[in-house]
Amino acid sequence: MADPIIALTQRFEAALASALGAEHARTDPALRRSAHSDYQANVAMALGKRLGRPPRDVAQAIVDHLDVHDLCTRVELAGPGFINLHLRDEALARELADTAGSDRLGLPSPAPETVVIDYSSPNVAKEMHVGHLRSTVIGDALARTLEALGHRVIRQNHIGDWGTPFGMLIEHLLDLGAATAESDTQAVEIRDLDGFYRAARAKFDADPSFADRARHRVVLLQSGDEATLSLWRRLVAASTRYFNSVYERLGITLGDGALAGESGYNAVLPGVLTELTGLGLTRESEGALCVFPEGFTGKEDQPLPLIVRKQDGGYGYATTDLAAIRHRLLDLHATRVLYVVGSPQSQHLSMIFKAAQEAGWLKTPARTTHVAFGSVLGPDKKMFKTRSGETVKLLSLIEEAESRASAVVREKNAELDPETSAKVAHAVGIGAVKYADLASDRIKDYVFDWGRMLALQGNTAPYLMYAHARIRSIFRKAAAETGSEGEALGAIVVKERAERALALELLRFGAVVGEVADTLEPHRLCGYLFELAGAFTSFYEQCPVLRAPDADARRSRLALCDLTARVLARGLGLLGIEAPERM
Ligand code: ARG
Repeated sequence: MADPIIALTQRFEAALASALGAEHARTDPALRRSAHSDYQANVAMALGKRLGRPPRDVAQAIVDHLDVHDLCTRVELAGPGFINLHLRDEALARELADTAGSDRLGLPSPAPETVVIDYSSPNVAKEMHVGHLRSTVIGDALARTLEALGHRVIRQNHIGDWGTPFGMLIEHLLDLGAATAESDTQAVEIRDLDGFYRAARAKFDADPSFADRARHRVVLLQSGDEATLSLWRRLVAASTRYFNSVYERLGITLGDGALAGESGYNAVLPGVLTELTGLGLTRESEGALCVFPEGFTGKEDQPLPLIVRKQDGGYGYATTDLAAIRHRLLDLHATRVLYVVGSPQSQHLSMIFKAAQEAGWLKTPARTTHVAFGSVLGPDKKMFKTRSGETVKLLSLIEEAESRASAVVREKNAELDPETSAKVAHAVGIGAVKYADLASDRIKDYVFDWGRMLALQGNTAPYLMYAHARIRSIFRKAAAETGSEGEALGAIVVKERAERALALELLRFGAVVGEVADTLEPHRLCGYLFELAGAFTSFYEQCPVLRAPDADARRSRLALCDLTARVLARGLGLLGIEAPERM
């Protein structure tokens, strides 16, 4: 494995066991990059406290048993009990050659699992808004990352395509004369989905006869009336066309194949209820059929229900989610199921997970996780809204991102031809929006701030994309100098401090991506890429590449440049962000 920290950790485990006893083998050696050496292990500090021994004695005992001969030139005790390690140049060169020699760039290969990711999941006949942006962007980054590690990822776009609102939506569609129940299956084009929904809603509230028709229409829909279903299908088709256009524009890996809407579970709902009842998990309560997962209570310690069949006999959101989790675990055989859904649905999902456990569908090694996230806030720290107080539509957001980005790109490089410039502006605009979302701790709210996300300095997509393009420009310059395409890269030999710092940073890539997969926190990868770009800048300032002292150094430094560009592009790619060759 590429990151020396992983090899060193194993050696520490052995040393801890023989110095202090097997029960200490799993103690984290707390290895960090260090300014004083290559790495520093802080394990003795905490361990000393726990064992009631001076940390320096503990550190000495560990060092006495530490066999890192082949990896390190020196191991030193420092201060109250830090252990400093200096990597051997050959060990470093070997790891770098390994990393550069494969397209995996040091990505780990964990045992492959089937992972279901429920993300995006907007609602039919409604506009996608910034609230859906987070689920879409975070879910897509996780899907790409888990796939890159070799997992079998099954994307499930759990769109809201069923329920009582469809009564009024279908009646409204009929009123508009856009289609009749009997007419052909010609597609409906709904330009303004939100407007359509609002108009239907307004009529429903104001006009009792329309409301009656809507309610009757729901009954027809649920009983499978073919003419009604065909209208419903047109609404769903119009919405999914719109969702797909947003996904395409955003570069999201969701297509029709990932569609797994609520309606798809209709046929199995009665069977799921029979199963839950057979297991003794359901109970009548106020005319509704409910499941009461253990450990959830509301007011006055009353057990909280998941309503699986409403008073009127209809099924709801919870019923569908129970059918969906059963399908994911038992039919798709997922051992990991991720729900990339906003924090407000946390209790609902916990109850679904618990019920799935009680039903025996969810058992080890399978596990489910609510990948929760906070809200998008406006500059005023309130929910992100347009100036007139409406929710921000995703499509207008994308348009604004691209137009703002094209100004940034023009300012940076006025010489790009118009076609390249437009492509780069698209990549920068979308990248900036995605990156701003991914770079903040997902559980927290974040402030949507155009100025900050498009800045060419700081932890932003434009900064990283620019760092990548700048490295590529070194190669263009090199090619112009030597008059040949693609100069030969040499073996990486690190001599200067800045070279070493960059090399060690490059070797962390795989471990960081592994961490993202474990913790489902893409901001760790963002932080890493930002540090990598910083290490590259220092290197580039201190170590001339094209003016290197000799040919070997030039080829080695070019190889470092190339590896940096590849890691940046790959890392951005895992986040769903493009890395243009020039900017
Ligand atoms: N459609 C829902 C919404 O917009 C999100 C669905 C999340 N997934 C799920 N399995 N419940 O709020």
